[in-house]
Amino acid sequence: PLSAMEQEDEISQELGSLDGIPLYKSFIEGWPQVKAFQARPDDLLISTYPKSGTTWLSEIMDMIYHDGDVEKCRRDAIYNRVPFLELKAPQEISGIEQLENTPSPRLVKTHLPVQLLPTSFWEKDCKIIYMARNPKDVVISYYYFHQMAKIHHDPGTKAEFLENFMAGKVPYGSWYDHVRGWWEKKQEKKILYLFYEDMKKDPRQEVQKILQFLGKELAEETVDRILHHTSFQEMKKNPAANYETMLPTLMDHSISPFLRKGICGDWKNHFTVAQNERFDQQYQELMAGSDLHFQME
Ligand code: A3P
Repeated sequence: PLSAMEQEDEISQELGSLDGIPLYKSFIEGWPQVKAFQARPDDLLISTYPKSGTTWLSEIMDMIYHDGDVEKCRRDAIYNRVPFLELKAPQEISGIEQLENTPSPRLVKTHLPVQLLPTSFWEKDCKIIYMARNPKDVVISYYYFHQMAKIHHDPGTKAEFLENFMAGKVPYGSWYDHVRGWWEKKQEKKILYLFYEDMKKDPRQEVQKILQFLGKELAEETVDRILHHTSFQEMKKNPAANYETMLPTLMDHSISPFLRKGICGDWKNHFTVAQNERFDQQYQELMAGSDLHFQME
């Protein structure tokens, strides 16, 4: 049997490059199947840059799809209820295989940048919900995720990870390209673009936006139940939503829980003044000319 350290070596991965986007090597190996994926017209795609509230939005969507039935939404872990399109790991069922076994209407999760989305989603005119989060909270959340999710190598110090993030040398590449790419696509395609910060401030309003986008109506008390069930505190203690059912060799929640803090502005507890100034400067440069704006707290 392998020692814990050898196992870790087996699981953690170097990043390869997929059309210039840094990505886990196993995901790149599975790419031909992802590229050829056949979406169905009633698929709904949940798209995010990592650590932007994917799991939160997924739980909300599954609840909406099941008319607020909490028990039905405990039927399986969130990563099985909403398969991860490009997921591919040795000796495990891939996202594509999972999706093939999922009855319609399917919820599909992806972190792909817009230019890499399999074309069939566009051809079938699937509904897409994108959720973005401010980059300062994303980078801190991503740092802790790198420590707890064992597919990653040791991310080094926070300062080192911040450098890599700013250089786009992290899985899925530049946050700027990601959020801007999907934002611009919104002009021509059916995309509901949401923000984590708005969802924190007024989740009821954001759920209403989703319902309107879906052309669906729910009773007030059903919406209340959805909001309660998808609150940070409820999700944190829900084994079907908090990822604690994943193998401990893949995620170590004792290092940092998957549902870590769930707030806006945690970056203030981590960035130095100098790091913040440098970050702001790059943000100004890379967001120049865009009408996409973020609330940093
Ligand atoms: P933090 O690390 O800042 O706590 P993703 O699902 O895209 O990987 O994003 C994970 C981030 O979303 C984590 O952020 C996690 O705590 C937060 N999150 C998950 N569920 C949430 C909820 N119900 N409310 C607020 N934040 C939530």
